[in-house]
Amino acid sequence: MVAILVAALAVLQLAAAAALPHHHRHPRAGHAPRAPDDSFHGVTLPLLCYDDRISDPSYRMLSTKLPSILDRAIQISSHSWEVGTLTQALLEVYNPRLAPFAYSDAAFHGALGGKIRVPTAPLEAASVAAKFLAAYDFSSAPSESGDLNSLLEGGSPRALVDGGGSLGDPCSLGPAAWLLAHFADAIGDDVGTPLATDTQYAWAVGNQLAYLQQGPRSDNGTISHREDKFEIWADQGYMIPPFLAYLGLTTNNTALLEQALDQWLLTSSALLDTNHNLYRHLNTFDTRFWATGNGWMLAGLMRVLASIKAAGGAGLGSKVAEAEDIAARVFQSLFNRLDDSDRLPNYMEETDPSLTHADSAGTTAVVGAFYRFLVLRPDLARGMKPAAERAFSGVVNKVDGEAWLTAVVDPQGTNGFLVYPGQDTRSPEGQSLLAIMWAARTAASQ
Ligand SMILES: *[C@@H]1O[C@H](CO)[C@@H](O)[C@H](O)[C@H]1NC(C)=O
Ligand SMILES: *[C@@H]1O[C@H](CO)[C@@H](O)[C@H](O)[C@H]1NC(C)=O
Repeated sequence: MVAILVAALAVLQLAAAAALPHHHRHPRAGHAPRAPDDSFHGVTLPLLCYDDRISDPSYRMLSTKLPSILDRAIQISSHSWEVGTLTQALLEVYNPRLAPFAYSDAAFHGALGGKIRVPTAPLEAASVAAKFLAAYDFSSAPSESGDLNSLLEGGSPRALVDGGGSLGDPCSLGPAAWLLAHFADAIGDDVGTPLATDTQYAWAVGNQLAYLQQGPRSDNGTISHREDKFEIWADQGYMIPPFLAYLGLTTNNTALLEQALDQWLLTSSALLDTNHNLYRHLNTFDTRFWATGNGWMLAGLMRVLASIKAAGGAGLGSKVAEAEDIAARVFQSLFNRLDDSDRLPNYMEETDPSLTHADSAGTTAVVGAFYRFLVLRPDLARGMKPAAERAFSGVVNKVDGEAWLTAVVDPQGTNGFLVYPGQDTRSPEGQSLLAIMWAARTAASQ
């Protein structure tokens, strides 16, 4: 009876949210009661309060649709990078103090010893990540460890999940797994899925870190995105450096923070075309300027820069400035290329029309990164704000009545990384990137 009442209340609140936006000064999410038997993998997503200083109707519309958009993301995310991006989106929306942009060390370490001393446990991200890690073999993990950080050293090389040949993609789950290492004992089974222990998750993250560190590299130390050969992908900008940076931030490890930024700069040096100020997708079979690849590079950099800033700078000022200058040039180049739907062509600098249909997912990634950049470096970003606002509306216009982002690139690259107009392509990362974009604009408060 109690469960039914709680479920009914949640449904009523969702209906109310659809009809009646909340006016609230603080962008923190409010937690609605969770129904134990809801349809989406044990998670009932809380409603959101939007920032009423942002008067753009597109922002308000996205605010009311976002829980449904994230429900869709949870429904269809199944590959390592999709789930990694989804957990990051859930954190940035529902637990911003556990994400680098509004990081709080007290919040991150507030649940150790099995007792939550902070009000905001990352239930949504923990649930999604724990389900995806359920098949991990924890049998060799130590039974207890007083010092979780020590498990990041000397791990036995193993990915968190099968990356389908990718070395970098499973790393995108690393931050959520590292959070589980700090909250699992305290959360218990509240998230509707059996959890491993804090120690077991920490050990698994140490194994993932060891696996990444021993992967293929080029002569100058650039880590490969593939596990069996050396190959650089723009995608890795979001998968590898932010993982290293998050571990560095949460363990006060300057070497990891520096490695994160170094790896981003190396990837950037390999893929940036300095004539166009655009990133190539890969250094091998697809060297075109892919919108989503540019989005992955920029969005990953923002997490790295925010981690370094939250850690007090880590003595990396000149490398940070170098990365920010590059980012400013790439953002400008991208915003110069918005089409008449205010979105980016899927591939830029191409003439074949099958390559140049506008892509909602890649555009969303770029706009989300931009709003973080606007907070980090308003001096460099301010002039691009009008274009970013147009692009924000451009993608929100493509969210349909069922909370799907439409006109998206096929994220699997089934027959090439193409947009197929008129087909109902779904993009797991596109759904999550909308949430990342919303959180970034909310935090920018403009
Ligand atoms: C972080 O590490 C630096 C030196 O590497 C040290 O000075 C500082 O006190 C540490 N901070 C915390 C919170 O442990
Ligand atoms: C690092 O190595 C990669 C791969 O060979 C290359 O493309 C890139 O330009 C190099 N970057 C620097 C800064 O040497």
